[in-house]
Amino acid sequence: MQIILEPKPFAAMETEALVTYVFDDNDGPQGRAAELDTLTGGLLSRLNKSGELTGKSLETTLVHAPSGLKAARLLLVGAGKREQFNTATLRKVAGVALRYLKARSVHGLVFAARENDATEENAQAIAEAVVTADFETDKYKTDKKKDKFIDEVAIAVYSEAERTASEKGIARGRIIGEAQNFTRDLVNEPSNKLTPKILAEKAEAMAKEAGLAVEILDERRIADLKMGALLSVAQGSVEPPRVIVITYTPANAKPGAPVIGLVGKAVTFDTGGISIKPADGMEKMKYDMAGGATMLGIMRALAALKPNIKVICVVPSTENMPGGRAQKPGDIQTAMSGKTIEVLNTDAEGRLILADGVHYAKELGATHLVDAATLTGAIVVALANVNVGVFGSDQAWTDKLLASAKAAGEKMWQLPMDDEYREFIKGSFADIQNIGSGKGGGSITGAWFIREFAGDTPWIHLDIAGTAWNDEAKPWLAKGPTGVGLRTLVHLVSSL
Ligand code: BES
Ligand code: ZN
Ligand code: ZN
Repeated sequence: MQIILEPKPFAAMETEALVTYVFDDNDGPQGRAAELDTLTGGLLSRLNKSGELTGKSLETTLVHAPSGLKAARLLLVGAGKREQFNTATLRKVAGVALRYLKARSVHGLVFAARENDATEENAQAIAEAVVTADFETDKYKTDKKKDKFIDEVAIAVYSEAERTASEKGIARGRIIGEAQNFTRDLVNEPSNKLTPKILAEKAEAMAKEAGLAVEILDERRIADLKMGALLSVAQGSVEPPRVIVITYTPANAKPGAPVIGLVGKAVTFDTGGISIKPADGMEKMKYDMAGGATMLGIMRALAALKPNIKVICVVPSTENMPGGRAQKPGDIQTAMSGKTIEVLNTDAEGRLILADGVHYAKELGATHLVDAATLTGAIVVALANVNVGVFGSDQAWTDKLLASAKAAGEKMWQLPMDDEYREFIKGSFADIQNIGSGKGGGSITGAWFIREFAGDTPWIHLDIAGTAWNDEAKPWLAKGPTGVGLRTLVHLVSSL
């Protein structure tokens, strides 16, 4: 799919579909919508009066052969209330337009931003939106819908200044959108097609292509490093574990500057181990590697965006299986840090592999940590599939992340980490235990467990169990993997 600029005035645009958005207010068409209204002989006003065009959020109104325009179709997407409009709305509107037209076998469109808003930021949002909206999860279908594709999206620009700004925005947006799709493609892979070994191979190939330094630790290296927590999860599977380490170093890294450590959970399938999960819905546990896939996608984007800060990505990967050698409840393991862990529930495996991942990232020199993991079912109880759960040990660092989430249009919500919750994981027979003995607060005790290994290093944990996978398709995104967290973390790293 090409993303280009369209500098022609509305009346002269020759396209299969001209797309713009309308607000849900009673002010009537304004700005460029008013221009369109005049050109089409009052079409927008008429549709609005008849009640067909309301501007309600994500409402779609398609007009064929609109008079006064060369465009074959005019698609009006509802943008909701004018006062609430922001880049997050713009992203959805653009995504909806792409998926709506693609489903109707339209192959090209012009997207017209409105009053003075063909800015770099908006062009980036539109590019991210159309690239991610275009992603389908039909890789393993043999009857792909071959006539359904969009090969050209043009963004309307009205001045030289808008043209330069939009060009920059498109370049950035495309990089980020494609990185997000790279992540989603990995998350979509079933566990028979994506073992830890295969994930490591794909990560290595990506890193080499992107020009990033990469090292894959195999089961022997992992044992040499004494990553006992990761190994304890891996021992129940015939598939060997891997740790993927990718490093981005900026051209002129200053000595003493912060080094960001990104650690992602990559359990390529989580059966629960001996504390086995119920059969119903277990197939979804192929997405238990979404945190790791997100970090890999971020590295792919950073390689192209070239921020001025060093980033080390550590992705521990394993299956969680109930094989004959599997660890059993009550087993005591020694993590790489030397801390002993009583494994009370083998299904709380994500925190085990992150314990070693976080410790290793620190050993490699990370001064600021972020981990992302499909860690707990409890986060779905707390925040449903709407917000990512955010946990942090350092409020200044956490505030930066929350600001980036806002800027990137990803919903995130911070949860508390009072010392009381830490008591829940104090061990009876080892230093700590991998599930809480108190009632409730499951996501917080999970976070506390990981924090024990981050120590004094500023650390953030993102629980994406509720948000990494959409059970239903959205009008702007296919069903399945979302790639959540990527945009926020790319923004965070770029802003440092
Ligand atoms: N991978 C799961 C968490 C999960 C649940 C991800 C639902 C996506 C959707 C994790 O390893 C797990 O099993 N967590 C347990 C922890 C419990 C045993 C303390 C859980 O949430 O039930
Ligand atoms: Zn589990
Ligand atoms: Zn898991």
